[in-house]
Parts: sequence; C-alpha cells; structure tokens
Amino acid sequence: MDIRLLTTADLPLIQHANLENLPENYFLKYYLYHALSWPQLSFVAVDVSRPRKGPYDYPKIVGYVLAKMEEEPTDGVQHGHITSLSVMRTHRRLGIAEKLMRQSQLAMVETFQAKYVSLHVRVSNVAARHLYEDTLRFRNEKTESKYYADGEDAYSMRLDLDDVAELAKRYADEEEDKDKDESGRANGGDATIKSEGVDEGEAVGEVGRDPEADGKERKIKVAVGRGLGVGDLVEKDESKH
Ligand SMILES: CC(C)(COP(=O)(O)OP(=O)(O)OC[C@H]1O[C@@H](n2cnc3c(N)ncnc32)[C@H](O)[C@@H]1OP(=O)(O)O)[C@@H](O)C(=O)NCCC(=O)NCCS
Repeated sequence: MDIRLLTTADLPLIQHANLENLPENYFLKYYLYHALSWPQLSFVAVDVSRPRKGPYDYPKIVGYVLAKMEEEPTDGVQHGHITSLSVMRTHRRLGIAEKLMRQSQLAMVETFQAKYVSLHVRVSNVAARHLYEDTLRFRNEKTESKYYADGEDAYSMRLDLDDVAELAKRYADEEEDKDKDESGRANGGDATIKSEGVDEGEAVGEVGRDPEADGKERKIKVAVGRGLGVGDLVEKDESKH
C-alpha cells in the first residue's frame, strides 16, 4: 500500500470514494480548492499490490484524507482541519485511515506550523470515533447540536500537535545528520570539509593560473617602456656607420 500526496488527477476518484462512503458530499470544485490551496495536506492510499489487468488499469485509490488550514481562525491560532476521510470497505481495519491522518498532521506542522487540528464526527460513528479518540487521541471540545443535514449531532474534536512538532523536529535533525554523514563519506571521512574532492570543472581564463602547475614554461617578466630608458626605444639609424 502506498500513501502519497493527492493530485488534481485523483479528484474524480476521491469524489467517487466520498459518495460511496459518506453522506457528506461536495462539488468537485471544493476538492479542487483543497488540492490547489493546500497541496501539501491531502493524501491518498493506493493499492499498488493489485495485479494490473492491462495498460489502462491504474492502481486503485482505496482511501483518502482531504485536509486544509483554517483560513480565518476565530481563536487566532494557526490550525488545520480535516474536511473528509474515508477508506473503501474492502480495505478497512488495515491501519490505512490512521496512516493518512498521521501523514496529514505531520504536513500541517512541517508546512504551516499548525498548533492543532480539528474535525467533526457524527456522534453515532463508532469506527471513526475509535480512530480519533482512542488511536489518535483527539479530545472532544463540544457537541454541536444538529450539525448534520439529517439532524444528527456532531462532536467537535481537536488534537494538539505539540507531539507531532517534536517528531517533525527529530526527523529534520536525523535528515541533517544523514546529510552530514553522506558528505563526510564523500570527502574521505572529514564531514567538515564540504567542497574538497568535489569536481568543480576546469579553471576558466588565465587570471590567477600558475603556468608551472600547468606544465608550461614560466613566463619571465621583462621591463618595457620607461623601465628600459627612452634612448633604447628610439629607432637607431644604422646608415651613419
Ligand atoms: C472511519 C474509517 C475511515 C476508518 O478507516 P480504517 O482504515 O478502517 O481505520 P484504521 O484501520 O486505521 O483503524 C484505526 C483504529 O480504528 C479502529 N476501527 C476501525 N474500524 C472500526 C470499527 N468498525 N469499529 C471499531 N473500531 C474500529 C481500528 O481497530 C483501529 O484501532 P486500534 O488503533 O485500536 O487498532 C472507515 O471506517 C471509513 O471510511 N468509514 C466511513 C467513512 C467515515 O466514517 N469517515 C469518517 C468521517 S468523520
């Protein structure tokens, strides 16, 4: 299973999955708005293990998370919001939703320094509540009465992203250490000398070039003009002799 960023080409399939899995549906342009405004935050799960039946049989999208940043947060705190999440029935309880959610949370922190993430969930949605409350540790902020079109209440939930920020920092530090190690190995063990051993190409032009180092004869400086004395520069009239 591959978890990758959502692209605009995925949108019709995401809309299809949403229609299959949830009663809250949106116009295609709302998905597009997410994909174009916050391209870092939405992810899809792709079943790459399924054998392809032909050249036009593309790997199937089996889950998605559609996420955004709150544009005008009423509390003035930069935070993300989960607009929609679903996994196809055939692929549930494999940890896909959890992975999609964690990936999006990390991106919210890394890209937008989000402090928390919020969402709404139906009071009766046992599977989603288990995922949010028990697996991901969201907490219920308040109950919004008759939030959904059919009159059902929603829990308005939120998760502080401090731990995710800590994790993001650790990843960044590890990456930095890895880069240092790699450039150190390329430089024969000394990680501090970054440019040594790197092929910077042939020197261009003559300025500063040492002719001896090039294997050519060293040019000798000769005095010209005033250095020789004016007399020497005057053409001699040999006919007088
Ligand atoms: C909710 C939903 C996204 C979960 O997707 P999933 O990929 O099956 O979830 P995961 O496999 O990542 O499971 C995460 C946790 O939830 C639990 N869980 C999943 N389905 C469950 C169910 N039907 N009942 C109880 N717990 C369930 C898993 O056991 C797991 O718990 P664990 O961490 O203790 O092991 C999926 O059921 C779905 O698409 N439902 C329809 C759409 C929907 O309700 N979306 C949410 C809108 S707010």
